[in-house]
Amino acid sequence: MIVLSFLVKIREKARTVGKRVVLPEGTDERVITAAAKIVELGVAKPIVLGHKEDMERVANDLGISLKGVEIIEIAKSDRVDAYATKFAELRAKKGMTYEKAREIMTKDPNFYGAMMVKMGDADAMVSGSDSPTADVLRAGLQVIGTKKGIKTVSSMFVMELTERQDTYGEVLLFGDCSVIPVPTSEQLADIAEASVVTAKSVVGMEGKVALLTFSTKGSASHPDIDVVIEAGKILEERGVKFPFTAEVQADAAIVKSVAMKKCPDSKVAGTANILVFPNLAAGNIGYKLVQRLAGANAYGPLIQGLASPINDLSRGCSVDDIVNLVAITAVQAAE
Ligand code: ACO
Repeated sequence: MIVLSFLVKIREKARTVGKRVVLPEGTDERVITAAAKIVELGVAKPIVLGHKEDMERVANDLGISLKGVEIIEIAKSDRVDAYATKFAELRAKKGMTYEKAREIMTKDPNFYGAMMVKMGDADAMVSGSDSPTADVLRAGLQVIGTKKGIKTVSSMFVMELTERQDTYGEVLLFGDCSVIPVPTSEQLADIAEASVVTAKSVVGMEGKVALLTFSTKGSASHPDIDVVIEAGKILEERGVKFPFTAEVQADAAIVKSVAMKKCPDSKVAGTANILVFPNLAAGNIGYKLVQRLAGANAYGPLIQGLASPINDLSRGCSVDDIVNLVAITAVQAAE
C-alpha cells in the first residue's frame, strides 16, 4: 500500500542502524508510551529523561512495559559537570559561565539532551511534544552547531500524498517550514542544497528543486521575487549538480500542463519534487494546508544542517508521530 511505503522503508532502515535517540520529555505520557513502542518495533534505542518512579507509575497505569528503555534522571546524573563544562566552553564568547551552564543543564532537558548528543552519549534527539519549536532549535544551534562547511540550519517536511500519486508522485519535500522566518537569497540556495541531500538520505529520492514565489519567469516583478531569482543565480554560480528552477509559482512547479504554458523551456517545472518556499509564513501555511485539505501525511520538520540530528515534534503530536520521527531521526543519524 503506497501510503505506508515511506514509513515501512524508514522503519526497516532504522531497525538496521540501531541508533540511540534521546527523548527529553519523560514527563509526557505520549513520550513514555512511544518509548515502549520504539523498543517493541526495534527502530531505535530510546533514552528518556525523566523521573524513574513517576515514569514507571505512568507505564503501570497504561499497562505498558519500560523494559529496554533507558531512563536518565538529570538530578542524579554524574554527567552534569562534564556537560556544563563543555557548554560553558562552547558559549564562552557569549559570556557563558560554568555556573550558568550548570543551571541550564539541570533545568532544561532540551539542553541536557542536546549535550548528550554532542558528547557522544546519544546519537540523536527528538523533542518538542511539550516545548515550542524555538526552544528545541536553540538547544540544537547552541550545543550541536552546524555541520562542517554548512552555514544554514533549515528544515524539510516529507509530504506523503495519500491521493493523486499518479500525478504528483508519492512523496514531495517542502521546505523551509519551521526554522528561518525570512531567508536571504544565500539561505534559500542553502535550503535547496540541503533538501536535495535530505531527499536522497531519508527518502532515497533524486531531488528536482523549484524555488517558489508568486511569479513565473518574469510574470510579475517585486523585491520579494528578486530574492528568489538571486537564489537561483547563486545555485548556478555554485555549479550544483541537481536540477532546479527558480522563480516559479506552485502550479507551474508541479502541474505539467501549467508548466508547458508558463515556462515551456524549464526541464524541472511541472515535475519538481522539492518545493522551496520563499519564507517561513508561506512554507508553514503551505504544508499545513496540504496536510489538512489534501490529507497528506506530513513527516517532520526534519532539521537539516546540524552536525548531528535533532528533530522537533509538534505539541499536538500523537504517539505514532513520535515513533515515526524517532525512526526517521535514527536514519538521519546513520547518514
Ligand atoms: N542557521 C544557522 N545558524 C543559526 C540559525 C540558522 N537558521 N538561526 C540562528 N543561528 C545561529 C545564531 O546566529 C546564533 O549564533 P551565535 O551563537 O554565533 O550568535 C546561534 O545560532 C544560536 O542562536 P540563538 O541566538 O540561540 O537563536 P535565535 O534567536 O537566532 O533563533 C530560531 C533561532 C529559534 C531558529 C528562530 O529563528 C526561530 O524562532 N525560528 C522560528 C521557529 C518557529 O517558531 N517555527 C514555527 C513553528 S514550527 C511548525 O509549525 C512545524
